[in-house]
Amino acid sequence: MQISVVGTGYVGLVAGVCFADVGHKVICVDKDSGKIEALKKGQIPIYEPGLQDILKSAEERIQFTTDLTSAVNQSDVVFIAVGTPETADGSADLGPTFAVLEQICKAAQAPKYIVLKSTVPVGTNTRAKAFVAEHGAHAHEIINNPEFLKEGAAIDDFLRPDRVVIGCESHEAKNIMEKIYAPFISEGRPLLFMSNTSAELTKYAANSFLSVKISFANELAALADKVGANIDEVRAGFTSDSRINKAFFYPGVGYGGSCFPKDVQALIHTAHEHGCTMNIVEAADQVNDKQKIVLYQKVKERFKDLNGMTFALWGLAFKPRTDDVREAPAGYLIEKLTQDGAKVVAYDPVASETAKEAFPSPFEIANDPIAACQGADALLIATEWNEFRNPDYKALTAALKNPVIFDGRNCLEVHDVQRAGIEYFCIGKQSLFQGPA
Ligand SMILES: NC(=O)c1ccc[n+]([C@@H]2O[C@H](COP(=O)([O-])OP(=O)(O)OC[C@H]3O[C@@H](n4cnc5c(N)ncnc54)[C@H](O)[C@@H]3O)[C@@H](O)[C@H]2O)c1
Repeated sequence: MQISVVGTGYVGLVAGVCFADVGHKVICVDKDSGKIEALKKGQIPIYEPGLQDILKSAEERIQFTTDLTSAVNQSDVVFIAVGTPETADGSADLGPTFAVLEQICKAAQAPKYIVLKSTVPVGTNTRAKAFVAEHGAHAHEIINNPEFLKEGAAIDDFLRPDRVVIGCESHEAKNIMEKIYAPFISEGRPLLFMSNTSAELTKYAANSFLSVKISFANELAALADKVGANIDEVRAGFTSDSRINKAFFYPGVGYGGSCFPKDVQALIHTAHEHGCTMNIVEAADQVNDKQKIVLYQKVKERFKDLNGMTFALWGLAFKPRTDDVREAPAGYLIEKLTQDGAKVVAYDPVASETAKEAFPSPFEIANDPIAACQGADALLIATEWNEFRNPDYKALTAALKNPVIFDGRNCLEVHDVQRAGIEYFCIGKQSLFQGPA
């Protein structure tokens, strides 16, 4: 099976490498020649654990090119995995997707199966079908195959998916997708065939529901703080109910990343276009907007005037095990603190460079977590990297001007912090810390 994947970002590259890993022949296409040149040399342009190793083991079956025409004509199936970012009105920007569709129509000398792997709003398949019918010289078939991988665990998610969702119409398309995904579902994982429209909506349903869970945890945590409850105890208590899945009920500084915020907006936008409401999802979005500045508010409440102060910040990526900083809560935090005249010295194991390029507000980068704290008025934690979980408290308190920590991810151990005599602010279990122990 010869496959092309257009777009070698977090999704396209992982998909291409994993397809090659299970034995398919893959051509990865990107318009970014710098990325393609790096990939040809075996260099991975993103941080994703395990990707480098799997690329090495699959290198005989994978090629990288900027030449879409040649890739399309060598392939039976062309996956499109370009970005679908949010536009000003909340809808998804389908410009890159349709630009690729147009290129495929121009390039293809025979009918192709074109698979929309990007997250695309409900109705895109209908538009795409009309588009290829108008612009293509051949009867291409549009298939929807939304991706559910999580950055930081992308390889495992792709190789061992909870399910694979495929929207298609013909038996031929179903057969070809079954062949492509057979190696990934051999352990009885479901390959779910449905209409293209259902496949599109399934992806938005999944991301929006996860966003609702996070916002619910955040609102519950705020209430726990007010009434003197401990959110960890509450979570353990209510998620033990077999009807409630334990995952994703962790409070923090809000969800970010390149998917949840934009997919929530896109679902709301689609609902409005069809005269429907998405009240629960809209509420999750509003709660998240407030949550992004919750740590800043705690800092402000504690120190009042932040002008001239210096804050250490651990974590810039939107979550651990990735260098992706799109919509990362750390970016909002830095913006608020610097607007108040404070300086931020940040440390992140892998995302410093991407954050430096992406965040609009200035901040300094430290080479290690303790160096970031040197002379700082307090430490803030925005990403729960494992290396932050058991800090050297002696070195930490020696470095900080004031032993104060604002932990936006509840990643420190209560007893350790208390023993170190640190003033600690966290999310949803504040009653345990009424000042230094
Ligand atoms: N990142 C995730 O965790 C994740 C998970 C599931 C689904 N998705 C969805 O997958 C899609 C891709 O997301 P991503 O994070 O991989 O995006 P990304 O921004 O990391 O990568 C997109 C790539 O497409 C390339 N590209 C854009 N236009 C092109 C063109 N005309 N020709 C060739 N290449 C082109 C870009 O250069 C870039 O390398 C989005 O719709 C996203 O919502 C993302």
